Amino acid sequence: MSFESMWADLQPVGRSAHSGGYRRFAWTRTDHDLREWFAGECTARGLDVTDDRMGNQWAWWGEPDDAARRGDKGVVTGSHLDSVPDGGAFDGPLGVVSAFAALDVLRDNGFQPARPIGIVNFVDEEGARFGVACAGSRVITGAMTADRARGLTDADGVTMAEALEAAGRDARHLGRDDETLGRIGAFVELHVEQGRGLVDLENPVAVATDIWPHGRWRLDFPGEANHAGTTRLEDRQDAMLGYAGAVLAAREAAISHGCVATIGKVEVTPGGVNAIPSAVTGWLDARGASPRAVRRAVADVRSMVEQAGGHVTEESWTPSTPFDPALSDRVRDRLGGVPMLGTGAGHDAGILANAGIRTAMLFVRNPTGVSHSPLEFAELSDCLEGVAALGAVLEDLAGAPA
Ligand code: GLV
Ligand code: MN
Ligand code: MN
Repeated sequence: MSFESMWADLQPVGRSAHSGGYRRFAWTRTDHDLREWFAGECTARGLDVTDDRMGNQWAWWGEPDDAARRGDKGVVTGSHLDSVPDGGAFDGPLGVVSAFAALDVLRDNGFQPARPIGIVNFVDEEGARFGVACAGSRVITGAMTADRARGLTDADGVTMAEALEAAGRDARHLGRDDETLGRIGAFVELHVEQGRGLVDLENPVAVATDIWPHGRWRLDFPGEANHAGTTRLEDRQDAMLGYAGAVLAAREAAISHGCVATIGKVEVTPGGVNAIPSAVTGWLDARGASPRAVRRAVADVRSMVEQAGGHVTEESWTPSTPFDPALSDRVRDRLGGVPMLGTGAGHDAGILANAGIRTAMLFVRNPTGVSHSPLEFAELSDCLEGVAALGAVLEDLAGAPA
């Protein structure tokens, strides 16, 4: 199974004929197909697949529990297979496919690992369905409680607990999973770069330094439904006006505090062209190098929303996440001194790092710099450079003394 054939297998799964982008959402039929694909790749390599308490899929070359009894731990790589609405092909799947391809390279070379190597498929990294990104890694690390996860709802009002049950899973099982975490000595996630850093540096691969602090906030605006033709302007309570103000306020706040802010999702009730909105809910995503700057920008938006009679709820917050400096330096040295890059994108690697696990990331060049869009791209030759880099890193981490 070459990189190219695995890539070709995944290509049609969850692809929208309309946009050419992917709609791969947690605990849907498409997600089930992706999970089956992952399990099939494991089986084809003689690896058993286990699900942790959140349904993240793990496969081990070697016996992590035997290693733990010897006081050793495994080296894990992998990423996620879900997508944002109309997402690209690479964000997530590149890390999973590269993990299998790197393991194949090691085996073809006759490498005998001194400690186990694991491959993981994290569920629901994008939070596209239930709103909280990295739900899979947050729950097993305790960064999100099982009760909160179970109660999250999708756009149709289906709770995560209901979606899990519909997918044939036991939602009571969710929770922090120390047994799974205890097997991980180091986690290295390979990911497509989501900017143009490597284009400018003219390099196919980089090592990550850190992830910007970032969060999501829900903005609720109340109004009163009424007729679009017969209601005088002065009699209206139009929820859309407050929301429109918030969009502009977010942009202003980002400029004045030196960070970025996006409102990329909105729900309008009742949603009729000829009805004044009785409620509008928008979701704000804010990030930046400085957590203080992000907090100040969000405070500006909050005061505007409250003045408009609306309400702000924080749905998630991830602090600044530096990756393990010693591990990252070791990875960089192993790769002959490739560039180091920070990122404004969130990752399961960041959640594991914040849980105290030794974590590093590799980025693969993206010639457009575009991500979370069907235009996201990486050249095959760069993907194969990424596989070679990941193989070299795994060989180092799984072969040498810890
Ligand atoms: C995930 O890709 C995020 O950064 O939101
Ligand atoms: Mn993403
Ligand atoms: Mn991703």
